[in-house]
Amino acid sequence: MTVASAISRQVCAACGRVFSETDPRRQCECGGLLEVRHDHSGPRLTGAALRALFDARRGALHGPFLSGVWRYREMVLPTAGDDVVTYPEGNTPLLQRPGVTAWASGRGGGRTDLLLKHEGHNPTGSFKDRGMTVGLTNARRVGATAVACASTGNTGAALGAYAALGGLPALAFVPKGHVALGKLMQLVAYGVRTLLVNGDFDACQELALASSDQLGVYILNSINPFRLEGQKTIVFELLQQLDWEPPDWIVVPAGNLGNTAAFGKALAEARDWGLITRLPRIAAVQAEGAAPFAMSYREGFARRHRVEPHTVASAIRIGNPASYERAVRAIRETDGVVTTVPDADLLEAKAVIDAAGAGCEPASAASVAGTRRLIQEGIISAGARVVAVLTGHLLKDPESVIRYHQETAPAPPGANRPIEIEPRLAEVERVLAKDSRR
Ligand code: F0G
Repeated sequence: MTVASAISRQVCAACGRVFSETDPRRQCECGGLLEVRHDHSGPRLTGAALRALFDARRGALHGPFLSGVWRYREMVLPTAGDDVVTYPEGNTPLLQRPGVTAWASGRGGGRTDLLLKHEGHNPTGSFKDRGMTVGLTNARRVGATAVACASTGNTGAALGAYAALGGLPALAFVPKGHVALGKLMQLVAYGVRTLLVNGDFDACQELALASSDQLGVYILNSINPFRLEGQKTIVFELLQQLDWEPPDWIVVPAGNLGNTAAFGKALAEARDWGLITRLPRIAAVQAEGAAPFAMSYREGFARRHRVEPHTVASAIRIGNPASYERAVRAIRETDGVVTTVPDADLLEAKAVIDAAGAGCEPASAASVAGTRRLIQEGIISAGARVVAVLTGHLLKDPESVIRYHQETAPAPPGANRPIEIEPRLAEVERVLAKDSRR
């Protein structure tokens, strides 16, 4: 099957108006967010034939199919051809870590079959690279002269790396004092013009949108529907890693709700294209102090909330998530749930994931802490197969790790405080003896 028969369009999710796929507008006139849809004028590959095509591409030695995003080109951006801005990205591992499974399963009862989809293994250390390869590819197609985003750090880091690859200047609006050190370091290193805004992420988002409207920069936040097309591949790839046998649950940290929305779209399309016949349920997990989506969920999504966010997980410190409507649909269509976890649980989950040698940033651990809560509440049943997505790498936020392990009043679970010694063997012996008594 050639890609020539593919037709992609942008459709307003609110009013249904249709725009060409290269229309650079960021939103419909009615205020609705756009969505990319891929149709085909002739017969298209589906089911077993499509699975076989994707499986065959896993052996690629060069070209775009090396990427764990472009491998699924027919369902991502079929008209992009081979001229894509790719690192390559994706191809992230699906891990099984007994220590994490035991912690999430809790005492008694059955063991959950927990797998960790570690998106921190992307080139800039977070899942954002998957959306950015498609976003930058499209920015070039529409003739953008500069790209921009609001960010808690990861989107900006991915933007910087891919803008460098694509040869475009990049601008990021970040909340001053609330960006983890590893991310700020990446922004500066990749050459992003970094604006430290005296305000929270939501203020940054408003400023970025105004800049797009009035100063003409191409916006690459997740309201950009091409970003979500790339992020769908987290789901496609994990399904492929499970030999197209869907898990019972996919659990994901939720902030601005781009991923939640992308996962819902990916699953609906995977079913419609015959890749799978059964839909996993999505569980979106928010930090308790930044949980406007969970508040709406508890009210049956009767209304949208906006909160002043507080959490140690700076990546999801968001009070007015942009992809709210799309994410509601994702939860409804997959019979999903939305839950919350307190910062203390999120940090404990992180310490367990870190100590298992996997490691992740604080926001990522929300998926494992949320899994534990849902198991405790009996919503995830014993023996269920769960894929928890770890969205970002351990090295993104070194300060939070040091702070956790240095805490003494009281020392948190799993605290591993470095010990200062004089350069004498006797001191090493003393430490080892103490350890053996523990
Ligand atoms: N995990 C990490 C590590 C993130 O960086 C983000 C979002 C999320 C989870 C939440 O995902 O927004 O799709 O619900 N980070 C954005 C940023 C806001 O600017 O990097 P979401």
